[in-house]
Formats: sequence, structure tokens, C-alpha cells
Amino acid sequence: MNRRILGRTQLETSVMGLGCGGNSRLGQAYGNSESDSIRVVRTALDEGINFIDTAPTYGTEGIVGKALNGVNRDQYILSTKVSLPNPSRLGRWKDKRYFEKNLHQSLKHLKTDSIDIYNLHCVAASHYALAHDTYAEWLMKFQDQGKIRFLGITEVFGNDPTHEMLKLAVRDSVWDVIMVGLNIVNQSALRTIFPAALDKNLGIQIMFAVRKALVNQGGLKALIANLIEIGEVDPAEIESAEDPIGFLLRPEVAESLTDAAYRFCAHVSGSPIVLSGTGNPEHLRSNAASLNRPPLPNHVLARLKSIFGRVERATCN
Ligand SMILES: NC(=O)c1ccc[n+]([C@@H]2O[C@H](COP(=O)([O-])OP(=O)(O)OC[C@H]3O[C@@H](n4cnc5c(N)ncnc54)[C@H](OP(=O)(O)O)[C@@H]3O)[C@@H](O)[C@H]2O)c1
Repeated sequence: MNRRILGRTQLETSVMGLGCGGNSRLGQAYGNSESDSIRVVRTALDEGINFIDTAPTYGTEGIVGKALNGVNRDQYILSTKVSLPNPSRLGRWKDKRYFEKNLHQSLKHLKTDSIDIYNLHCVAASHYALAHDTYAEWLMKFQDQGKIRFLGITEVFGNDPTHEMLKLAVRDSVWDVIMVGLNIVNQSALRTIFPAALDKNLGIQIMFAVRKALVNQGGLKALIANLIEIGEVDPAEIESAEDPIGFLLRPEVAESLTDAAYRFCAHVSGSPIVLSGTGNPEHLRSNAASLNRPPLPNHVLARLKSIFGRVERATCN
């Protein structure tokens, strides 16, 4: 698996990060046993993936901790998260305790003394000031104690497809890593988030490279029809309504829609980590192979840009 440097963290990471949340949660969402999910994590390590993203709300931290038992700590990089406390409560003492308790639980589940990237999870633009002015300062105390190495922040792409929160976050210097939604349909982050993130040499984790509308052609066709209806895609850009993405699926271009979708994200500027979540070891191997392949041809990238360049609201969820 190809490696790259994650921005100013200087961590050497695999291009693919194993996402332990999303719709699969290592297959826990659809009935995988704990040992099935542990096998997915072990398969990722075997494939050369050294970056694992999880969160307490996914219910997979404990599985990751068990899967990594016995593996040298310098062989993997852990990203986990803490959700914001209920913002209406705002009792400072209670909130400080909340952060301490959450971090302690994550360390315990992940069976480690230190988390590499600790992210504030799903921050909305309306809560950003609180996240930055108050919570980030508290998290930095954990950095001083050696319990976390770098600070990250993740957006709620489903509700914030235009990245309003990250537009604020990339102006500030406290975050080392951001997690942003990007895919072949919603490329807006490349215009609105990446330039400032690259300027600050932030580490970038990409999520939503593949979601429901990008696992099969039918889903993408339906989404394109909807985007034409709401005026975000110009029907004149589409070769044929029956086969709107035929150009992407030619054998000389990509092996499948997911192959194209992952390769699109792997080769954008900024050397991002592309998160891929699955409960299926076969999908994992196939996605790892896609993320190791060369970029899509330039004429295909240009075509994707001209079709989807104005899309701002779709997430492919
Ligand atoms: N705001 C946040 O902080 C936030 C939000 C969302 C996600 N995340 C993180 O980002 C990671 C990535 O999330 P994501 O939103 O990009 O989704 P994802 O977790 O990568 O999910 C991808 C979906 O596509 C399916 N899939 C994967 N490979 C496939 C293949 N080769 N063929 C067919 N189906 C395939 C998977 O189902 P199968 O199990 O069947 O393979 C899964 O349901 C998450 O796991 C999580 O760690 C963070």
C-alpha cells in the first residue's frame, strides 16, 4: 500500500485509512460478529493499511482495540473522536469532566496510552466558536499530558455539504487534521476547503469517497436525474440519460464505479488519507487495490469536473 505524509503531523500513513464507522461499522451494522469485524481490521493490516479511524459512537473502538492486541504500537496510527457535549448545557465543570471521561474510555477501549489524532466529531458551523474557543483549549491539555498527539475536527457532511464549518476551521491554527466529505459528485471541497488547508499544511482525511449512490450504477443514475431536476447538473453535459457515466466505466478507465470513486479521491492535491469503511474483507482488498492504482485519465477528470463542478448539495448518501 502506497504511503504519504499527513500534512504537518509528519505521520507516514497509508493512502487508505480503514473507516470503522459509516454505514457498515466494520459490518456491525448488518450482523457481523465481533470476530468477523476483528478479521476486517486484521485484513487491513495485512494489506499494509496503518491508519484506522473510529469513534465511541460507532461502537467499534473496543473491536479495534482487540484486533490490535499484540501489534507493535508503532505499526499503526489511531484516529478517534469525541462528540460535543450537549451545547445547551454548557456547565464548564461538567463539560471538562465529560471530555476527561470520554478520552479515558477511548484509551481503555483502544488499549493504548496515546491517541494519534483526536477529533472533535461532527461539528456544526453553529457550534464552531465553542469548539474552537473553549474545547480545543481543553484538548490541548491532554496533548501536554501525552494522551493525544494531534487535534482534528470533522464536519457533518450529511447536513453541511457546503462545508460551512470547515470554512471556519481552516482559518484557525489549532487543528492539525481535518476530515472532509469529498467524492466524484460533490467536489466542492476542492474549491472551498483544500486551498486553505494546503496553505496551512493540514492533514486531510477524506470521507464519503464511496457512499450509497457510488456503489452501483443505478444509484448514481438516480442521483444524476435528481441533480438535473434541481439544476445542479446541466443535462447538456450528459452524453445519454440511459448511460450517463458510461465514459467512466470503460475497461481502459476503471474497473468499477467504486474503483473510479476511490481513485478520484486518492489523487487530489494535499496527499489526503482516503477513508474506506467495510465489513467485508473482499471489499477491503478491492478498495485497497483501487487506492494503489494510478489517477483516472485527465480527460475523464475534466469530464467529471464539467458534469459535477457546480454540485454543492449532494452527498451520495
Ligand atoms: N463526521 C464524521 O466524523 C464521519 C462521518 C462519516 C464517516 N466518517 C468516517 O469515515 C469513514 C468512511 O466513511 P464513508 O462515509 O466514506 O463510508 P464508509 O464507511 O467507507 O462506507 C462505504 C460503504 O460502501 C460499501 N462498500 C465499500 N466498499 C465497497 C465495494 N468495493 N463494493 C461495494 N460496496 C462497498 C460498504 O459496505 P460493505 O460493508 O458492504 O462493504 C459501506 O457501506 C467511516 O468509516 C468513518 O470512520 C466520519
